[in-house]
Amino acid sequence: MDVSLLSDRYIVQMMGESDVERIYELCRKNSLYYQYCPPLVSEESIICDMNALPQNKDMQDKYYIGYYDGERLIAVMDLIMDFPDETTAFIGFFMTDVAIQNTGIGSGIIKDLCVCLAKIGISKVRLGWVKDNPQAEHFWHKNKFVEVGDFYDTDKYTVIVAQRYL
Ligand SMILES: CC(C)(COP(=O)(O)OP(=O)(O)OC[C@H]1O[C@@H](n2cnc3c(N)ncnc32)[C@H](O)[C@@H]1OP(=O)(O)O)[C@@H](O)C(=O)NCCC(=O)NCCS
Repeated sequence: MDVSLLSDRYIVQMMGESDVERIYELCRKNSLYYQYCPPLVSEESIICDMNALPQNKDMQDKYYIGYYDGERLIAVMDLIMDFPDETTAFIGFFMTDVAIQNTGIGSGIIKDLCVCLAKIGISKVRLGWVKDNPQAEHFWHKNKFVEVGDFYDTDKYTVIVAQRYL
């Protein structure tokens, strides 16, 4: 997939270890998120996430991407294609810079993503949010994601599974 097609408004690029410091600066200010989804981000946890894959997937289906407004990194997403099945895309992580939050930018990114994924044959997008995180729950509901009735527990929190048909 050509990630530059995922947005008309922003520059979208694959991110690597040389971007970790910038990603860390964006993430660390999102304290509400880490309150619900501990531990607090670190440069090591970002590198770990960059390399994390669901079972039976390989790196060619993983897109750890940054959205840039000019030079400025405004959002980060971890997208897994064809998971859990070949017509589904999975958002493992999505975060915007606190400085631009609540201005519709996050929703715009998700809208453009869904349009682009539909064009390449994806029929739904799946994701999870930490139960009771009001910001995440409101955001994904606003963006037409609906709980599938499934959840899973980690030792620190419960994840609610949701999806959106394209
Ligand atoms: C969730 C997130 C991606 C939204 O990005 P954004 O650029 O602010 O998105 P938008 O401006 O399009 O929408 C934000 C919505 O969340 C709402 N919101 C913000 N903080 C909230 C809170 N504490 N409780 C409830 N709703 C909240 C806003 O009011 C807005 O909804 P509205 O338009 O109906 O008023 C961003 O807040 C973020 O990165 N949060 C931390 C990471 C996270 O939770 N990611 C999602 C789970 S993977």
